[in-house]
Parts: sequence; C-alpha cells; structure tokens
Amino acid sequence: VKKAELSPIAWKEGVVLILNQTLLPDRLEYIEATSPERVAEAIKKMEIRGAPAIGVAAALGIALAAYHSKASSINELRKDLLKASDILWKTRPTARNLFWAIERMKSIFLRDFPDVDSLKTAVINEALKILEEDIEINKRIGRNGAQLIEDGDTILTHCNAGALATAGYGTALGVIRAAVEEGKKIKVIATETRPLLQGARLTCFELVYEGIDVTLITDNMVGYVISKGLVDKIIVGADRILRDGHVINKIGTYTIACVASIHKIPFYVAAPLSTFDLKTSVENVVIENRDPSEVTTIRGVRIAPEGVKVLNPAFDITPPDKVSAIITEKGIVYPPYEENIKKLFE
Ligand code: MRU
Repeated sequence: VKKAELSPIAWKEGVVLILNQTLLPDRLEYIEATSPERVAEAIKKMEIRGAPAIGVAAALGIALAAYHSKASSINELRKDLLKASDILWKTRPTARNLFWAIERMKSIFLRDFPDVDSLKTAVINEALKILEEDIEINKRIGRNGAQLIEDGDTILTHCNAGALATAGYGTALGVIRAAVEEGKKIKVIATETRPLLQGARLTCFELVYEGIDVTLITDNMVGYVISKGLVDKIIVGADRILRDGHVINKIGTYTIACVASIHKIPFYVAAPLSTFDLKTSVENVVIENRDPSEVTTIRGVRIAPEGVKVLNPAFDITPPDKVSAIITEKGIVYPPYEENIKKLFE
C-alpha cells in the first residue's frame, strides 16, 4: 500500500500548518501558525528547516500577514507586508531560497492593484504557487537525477534533503525516490548529521516510512565506509550554490566531498534554481553560527563540561572541483560551472 506523502507545510484558510520537525521521529505534530511572527519563530527554532521549505514558509508567512491584515488602504497593507517580509528575512542567513521567496513575494505586492482585497488575493495566490511549484520542481529534479543512478547502487546522503526539507518529494531524496519509482533497487546510507541529527531523525524517518532500504552511520564513519567500497555515489542537497559552482550545504558536506574525491566516487548535488545565488562571491557568503548548546547537548542531554568553548557553524563550503554534477529542474549541469550555470538562467 502506498502511504500518504509527508507534508511538512500546508495552508488552510488563514492558518499555516507546520510539521514540527524538532519532535520527529517521536511525534507527528503540526504547529498552527496564524502570524508571520510565529512562522519566523518556527524557522529560527528549526521547527521547519531545509532551504526550499524555509522559502515556502516565508512566502506563506507573508500570505498570513495579508490574510489577517486590518488595513483599509493599499499603502497600509503594503506596510504590513513589508514588516512581515523584514521579520522573515532576518530568521536564517545562509539558505538562498528564503531570500528568493521573499523577493518574489515583494515583486507581487509592490505592483499596482485596484483595491485591498485584490492585493490580498494576489499575495495569497503567489505563496500557494510557490508551494505547489516546489513539489513539481522536485519531481523534475528527481526525474533528471534518476538518469545518473544505476540499478543496485548504494547512495550516501547527508543531512536531510527530503520531503521534509522542501514542500514535498525532496531534492537529493527526490532523486532517490524517482530512481526507486523507476524500479531500480537502491540502498541508502544516511549520515546522522550532528549537531541536530537531521540525518538520523528525518532522512531515516522518511525512508523507513516509505520502505526504502536505509542504513544509518555516524558522521565520522564516512571515510571508512567509502574506503571499504560500500558507496557507489553521493547525493546531497544545497542551501546556496554560487555562480562558479561553490556549494554551501550542511556542515560535514565538504568532508564527505573530499573523501569522495580521493576515492573517485561521484559527488552529486541536487537543488532547484531558487537555491542559486549568481551575485555573492564565496568570501561574502554568510555561514550561520548557531547556539553552542546544540553541540554541548544531544536532545537536551549534556555531553560536555560546563564552560567549554564551542564552534557551531551550520554549513560549510564545497569547492566546484569536488562537485561531479549539479542536478536541477532544468537538467544536469557539469563543469565548467561558471559557463554552464550561466546558461541555466538564459
Ligand atoms: O540547517 P538545515 O537543516 O536547514 O539545513 C538543511 C541542509 O543543509 C540540507 O541538507 C540541504 O541539503 C538543503 S535543503 C534541501
């Protein structure tokens, strides 16, 4: 029997339902957000996380501001929407999709409208379009990427780039899903992904839920597992991809890419066009630093002495020479990246 697809976020008449990912895999509980402030809080606390998912959440947060606004003029309504956009903009700094979605919403609500109601409707419709498009885009990424996967492959993935990190279906896990749907026998190795365990808690949850063969390893087992020939391919998602092919993704991705390169294992990145940032250069990318308590504790249990110094960067940067290909909804991009990424946007 095919199970219902996991839905991390949905809109229901002025309420944004957010699957609280901090509780997974123990409990499936939805947050009912009715304000952009509550959506912003959910993004900050990582109750919803993953680059495309936080873009969709921000768009729906702006839709909430429109839906509940008491403004009686277009100008007043725009003020409410700008305020919501500003609050959502400041939630997390690294994933490009958040800013992409807010900019797209702004391009709608700064247009001319005859009255308040038509502006409200346009804003809500645009947010719903972003949500629906994201699922479609992921299915296209999946179909494109599945060409790279052979029957019998064991694929290593890091963090969670699945249905939960998007509006549904997933990017890296979308490729794996599409290959499985084509009838290929696929095994997945998932890294646990400290500090917040998105691999163990979320990727394993999704794959077990769907009956896809998954084996969990801790992050420090990657080198051993690859050197033993247990991995055919690596597929990860991305939070931001630069015009020259630098890939910013969950902390630990760079280490995996280096080991893959030494052992000549293909290292693929799957992401939508909304993840690409053609403007920022690598030295100007903001890597989010999160609270030290995420490192000194595991799910609330302290594992290090009080007073210890901690580093907690949430993302790292993989240089283009370690990336075998980037899978997008418009096709697979190979080096030279500068040239071929430019073509994607023409
Ligand atoms: O900090 P998170 O959980 O929001 O980070 C998400 C990731 O880094 C994912 O692995 C990812 O590839 C981007 S979302 C498809």
